[in-house]
Amino acid sequence: MKKIYALLTLALLFSSNAAKADEGMWLLSLLEKMNYKDMQAKGLRLTPEQLYSVNHSSLKDACIWFNGGCTGEIISSEGLILTNHHCGYDAIAELSTTSDNILDNGFWAKTRAEERKPKAPMSITRVVRVDDITSEVLAKIAGVSEKERFAKLQEIYKELQKKATEGTHYDATCREMFKGNAYYLFVMEKFTDIRLVGTPPQNVGKFGGETDNWMWPRHTGDFSMFRVYVGKDNKPADYNAENTPYKPMHYLPVSLKGVKEGDFAMIIGFPGRTNRYEFSHGVALATDIVNPNIVNLRDLRLKAWKEQMVQDEATRLLLSSDYASIANYWKFFDGEAEQLKHNKVYDKKTAEEKAFAVWAESKEEYKSLLYDIDQAYTVYKPYALQNTYMRECITAPSIMQLASFGMSLDALYNKINKIKADKTKAAADKDKEIADLEAKIKSTSENLIKALAEVPYTDRIKIADKKIMAAMMKMYYKNIPSSQWPELFTKIASKIKNGNSDEVFAKYAEMLFAKSMFASKEKIEAFLKAPNHKKILSDPAFIYLKSHADNYTNKFKPKVDEFAASALALGRKYIKGLMEMNPNRVFYPDANSSQRLTYGTVKSYDPKDAVHYDFITTIDGVIEKYVAGDYEFDLPAKLLELYKAKDFGRYAASNGKLPVAFLTDNDITGGNSGSPVMDGSGNIIGLAFDGNWEAMSGNIHFDDKYKRTINVDIRYVLWLIEKLGGAKHIVDEMTLVE
Ligand code: ARG
Repeated sequence: MKKIYALLTLALLFSSNAAKADEGMWLLSLLEKMNYKDMQAKGLRLTPEQLYSVNHSSLKDACIWFNGGCTGEIISSEGLILTNHHCGYDAIAELSTTSDNILDNGFWAKTRAEERKPKAPMSITRVVRVDDITSEVLAKIAGVSEKERFAKLQEIYKELQKKATEGTHYDATCREMFKGNAYYLFVMEKFTDIRLVGTPPQNVGKFGGETDNWMWPRHTGDFSMFRVYVGKDNKPADYNAENTPYKPMHYLPVSLKGVKEGDFAMIIGFPGRTNRYEFSHGVALATDIVNPNIVNLRDLRLKAWKEQMVQDEATRLLLSSDYASIANYWKFFDGEAEQLKHNKVYDKKTAEEKAFAVWAESKEEYKSLLYDIDQAYTVYKPYALQNTYMRECITAPSIMQLASFGMSLDALYNKINKIKADKTKAAADKDKEIADLEAKIKSTSENLIKALAEVPYTDRIKIADKKIMAAMMKMYYKNIPSSQWPELFTKIASKIKNGNSDEVFAKYAEMLFAKSMFASKEKIEAFLKAPNHKKILSDPAFIYLKSHADNYTNKFKPKVDEFAASALALGRKYIKGLMEMNPNRVFYPDANSSQRLTYGTVKSYDPKDAVHYDFITTIDGVIEKYVAGDYEFDLPAKLLELYKAKDFGRYAASNGKLPVAFLTDNDITGGNSGSPVMDGSGNIIGLAFDGNWEAMSGNIHFDDKYKRTINVDIRYVLWLIEKLGGAKHIVDEMTLVE
């Protein structure tokens, strides 16, 4: 049998006759070979070197990874960063208090000195260089069993990362592509002194709230601005008042020319995760089992929080960031399941698999693949909810998250006890090991205090949490087969008479909150003054959490891990086979938080029969949606005044209207939030911030007809800064192209 890596030449991995321009998240270092001609034909006016270069400044230097989960771009020579409002949300909420509520009121620093440093750590990361390490990794991993593969890969990564960054201040990360058919190493430069420059009020930055989220037509001013600060040598440095604004290698000029249907548009960003080579079985699992459960579980949490948030401003500020992120994917998973069905993705995957099976029939390497996939999923299916319920149900109540610190402390105490009982060890060695563990107990306690400081466990939050606790118990009772329960849960459930579970779970939650130290900030603080193992062991929240955690770890985690490893191995083989079967098809790797480029055009769409969606929205639509005092559709009085006066300045389109958002057919996903949308010359024309409802199946299947990217028009951004925010000095800092 031929060695896998001999087959996987570049030409095979990234065929160059791109059939569909819009589909594909391309690695920048391969654009020249793969896509450049096609991009030029569609409207690109830059050289490959201007897109990606190791030796000169290029677009890749201006498009940065924002806080490890979003994208941002540098838009001035002084390190000014543009990203989404929802990407800056955490920082903005953290910097808000009821007396200085910048989340609700907006904020613009008038001087550099007024720019605000959030307490929570933040980072901005630039890609320095991308290396293809496929042949090294595949050579080293050859013959390693699937079981040892993950650990071995970490070892290989560590070595290559070290080699790539020796003698520099850079970091490196290795990323698996095509489920392990290719590997790339990214050398990165990470900056950590990041300060808030400005934000619109949230009724602009999050206008439309959860109702409009993931939907078009859209009217959200989803942006915020930060600045990167560095040491005197222009290199990354920890926060210091003396630090100065970063002088970037490249920054994006801002175009005021506007967009029209058919215009070239490219986006560079850090898409988080797609699974475009998923099997039909995985699609069925998502639509029938996993997604509906996540949606129902999150729904409970959101309702309990909202009840408290609408009653009290301080509670709203404390919970709003968590609320927004839970709500964002609550709607995502709902939409994903709906559109997987509507767009018939299961049928499409099944058809692809059938064609593969016909091709594979005579091929030793592949002929049992589909049978093996079937087997793996059949074995896994009865436990498919275990993992989801650990994350979304058992550990959903804050009290359980706090009790998880108790779990860590318990483990450390157990280690100490074991050392003490060990008769083979010398006393001096024992003392040293115990001292180390005691230091860990201390740092774990400190982290617990930090967690309490981040979201203080106030009375209102506790009321919501108690409700969540009881509701989660009921969900577990209803949806997880009793044969999979831990003993403790079976005991609690045995008290249920005549099917009335509500009473039993409410009572149990009541008891937990009355007796557990994790239900009270004061009790936790008292405990931390004199921590001891016994107190943890007898804590009811700890006992409840531990029973579930042990049950999962002992009975289900091995099954979940085994399934994940075999799904990965089968996926790897499937992709390799697909490539051999379709030597002319375009293959691009799934998103994995590495820097990618997608190119396409500005494009409208028809969501259903007789309905046409234009590619652009205007401020008229913002006003149409306005509902005074509403939680999601209120607006600042000043915006209403500016609208009345039609005070759009130089930002109005030629028809006199102020553009707000526009559509392109680029291929993006979560993580791309905040990415620049650029014209053919690399000027920024907009800011990607969302996907559309009809293509919520997009992580698993790219649908040509429906898949769109929703962008804020840069002219709306500038108008909001200058006219609403009164911060023209920020606009003046940019390089405008008129
Ligand atoms: N759906 C957007 C994304 O995932 C985030 C929007 C945040 N807004 C919200 N209403 N939760 O990129």
